[in-house]
Amino acid sequence: MTTPTREIHLARRPTGPPDAETFAFVDRLLPAPADGQVVVRNLALSIDPYMRPRMNDEPSYVKPYEIGKALLGGAVGEVIASANSSIPRGTKVLHSSGWREHALLSGDQVKVIADGPFPLSYHLGVLGMPGFTAYLGLMHIAEFRPGDIVFVSAAGGAVGGLVGQFARLSDAGKVIGSAGSEEKAAYVLKDLGFHAAINYRSEEPLLTQLRRASPEGVDVYFDNVGGEHLSATLEVMRDHGRIALCGTISSYNGGSGTTVPGNMFKAVAKRLTLKGFLTLDHEPVRPAFEAAVTDWLASGQLHYRETSTSGLDSMPAAFAGMLQGSNTGKAIVMLPG
Ligand SMILES: NC(=O)c1ccc[n+]([C@@H]2O[C@H](COP(=O)([O-])OP(=O)(O)OC[C@H]3O[C@@H](n4cnc5c(N)ncnc54)[C@H](OP(=O)(O)O)[C@@H]3O)[C@@H](O)[C@H]2O)c1
Repeated sequence: MTTPTREIHLARRPTGPPDAETFAFVDRLLPAPADGQVVVRNLALSIDPYMRPRMNDEPSYVKPYEIGKALLGGAVGEVIASANSSIPRGTKVLHSSGWREHALLSGDQVKVIADGPFPLSYHLGVLGMPGFTAYLGLMHIAEFRPGDIVFVSAAGGAVGGLVGQFARLSDAGKVIGSAGSEEKAAYVLKDLGFHAAINYRSEEPLLTQLRRASPEGVDVYFDNVGGEHLSATLEVMRDHGRIALCGTISSYNGGSGTTVPGNMFKAVAKRLTLKGFLTLDHEPVRPAFEAAVTDWLASGQLHYRETSTSGLDSMPAAFAGMLQGSNTGKAIVMLPG
């Protein structure tokens, strides 16, 4: 049995924000699965910031996307044809061949998702890569301790919103978040339960707002943004503070944004630890993450939101929008059956 499907290819490398010319929709006919393979119907596709730097032709920790080939990314779906006895039809799986409606994959390219009480799409967010990033970065990279004053940027998004909640649920002294609108700042404060929220796009400078939110300073900064956010936070860090360098989204679309603060001497004078990290180096931490987050979710203590669009056609605009802040919580694309 063949499967007609559609996928999104990288048509052209963007030099700034991605636009319609970046992407090409391609129709394909997938062959029946060969021995050991399965065909997956994707049900939800992940939209993640790292996909933008991966569109650049430059060496990094992961191979750049190739022009004329289907883009890759996290996805969850259901096996609809199987030539693999351990992954029968109907099995729900997580894999890395997103940006398409169906995927033909070998058994070792999918991770089986056991039936559970949470929506399947949560495995792209709170129970998946972004959740693991938040837990790992806070608990292990920044070496969080109860009583710490924690600041996190992009706090209205997938990773940032979880970082602040994990800190609050683990007895942080104070949790402060920054986000790009009044609405998102209100969400961070009221829905996520942060102690203070900053709209970094308001007229008042970020540093002024940070000083007011925490006159005592900051012990842990979870940096999703880089550039001016990092520069302002260096000013308010306490001596021996820890900074988890998670991402620099302010530079992903290129342009004039620099990610190197001019006040790095503050890191020396305050004896700070700044540590970059990638989840792929820290698999042994995953069981602790899964246990903690499953408990918090099941007990209703964790607030989790998705911003979803519907259909493969919506994906390019949803991706470009996420890079500019159109999402609250985790950005995903749902593919209705
Ligand atoms: N190290 C790792 O292993 C790892 C893994 C996953 C993610 N990450 C990084 O974690 C960060 C957050 O990822 P996510 O998946 O949770 O995305 P997200 O926060 O859900 O979405 C991205 C958000 O970034 C904010 N943003 C965009 N441009 C900005 C700018 N110039 N200044 C400040 N904020 C800006 C926008 O929110 P506003 O409306 O608030 O501007 C947007 O909603 C990214 O930097 C990503 O690369 C790292």
